[in-house]
Amino acid sequence: MIFTPETRLAALLGWPIAQSRSPKLHAHWLALHGIDGAYIPFAIRPEDFEAVFRALPKLGFRGCNVTLPFKERAAALVDALDPLARRVGAVNTVVFGPEGAIGSNSDAPGFLANLRAQAPGWSAAAGPAVVLGAGGAARAIVAALLDAGVGSVRVLNRTLERGAALADALGGGAEAMAWDEYADAVRDAALLVNTTSLGMAGQPPLEVDLDELPDHAVVADIVYKPLETDLLADTRARGLVAVEGLGMLLHQAVPGFEAWFGPRPEVTEAARAAALA
Ligand code: ATR
Repeated sequence: MIFTPETRLAALLGWPIAQSRSPKLHAHWLALHGIDGAYIPFAIRPEDFEAVFRALPKLGFRGCNVTLPFKERAAALVDALDPLARRVGAVNTVVFGPEGAIGSNSDAPGFLANLRAQAPGWSAAAGPAVVLGAGGAARAIVAALLDAGVGSVRVLNRTLERGAALADALGGGAEAMAWDEYADAVRDAALLVNTTSLGMAGQPPLEVDLDELPDHAVVADIVYKPLETDLLADTRARGLVAVEGLGMLLHQAVPGFEAWFGPRPEVTEAARAAALA
């Protein structure tokens, strides 16, 4: 690989970064489209984040993705925020242009695009959604569901106050419920989403009773390590549609690639395989 001053550059900033699958995905799309470009992951110590972020455009980078733990700090550093990123309070995609650094959030649309791809029968009108967890990922997903027109989004979190703060901040049809109200929350739900770290390799299991869900419910997990979480396996065993988490990662990468490199890439089986390689 030979880089020149013409090579289009994008970065990924996070800490740590080793587990990220995004570089393989972008490399696949760059090769597919024959683009002279590079998407380079950088593990940045938290105390160095601002200096590195500000240096990127000076080095010629067209933009970057920002991942944990920097999404909120990036929202504060950019020169302009798109409305969704402002609402979510977190930025994962940045474009450096003549107007400065423009921050957006593609986690929310990425979640929806993946949901629509993997559960074509789901619609916003199908009924209430139940979101487990109230962290940064939950915030993007609740905003996405409300924006898609879901009338009622119930946020269940171990720490009720955190769920209440999220629901208050996003407003609309979002409401917080206690974790032990699970059975009541899901009884008429059309969608259940796990945004907690439960079920991830090395974390405790997520223990929820899927028999409480109606027969038309869709279950989505944002955990993708392992790809097939116990939640997804149990969902399939129960005869419900399961939406795996890797797809959200693939779909959230699309707007950044398009902004930095030109073509709008497609989330295909080959792209998925490349990310997993
Ligand atoms: P992210 O930004 O990736 O969403 P986070 O902000 O650390 O990550 O949020 C993790 C979520 O998983 C939170 O909702 C957390 O619940 P608390 O707000 O009560 O901490 C949830 N979570 C993590 N470990 C959990 C556990 N053992 N039981 C229940 N919920 C857990």
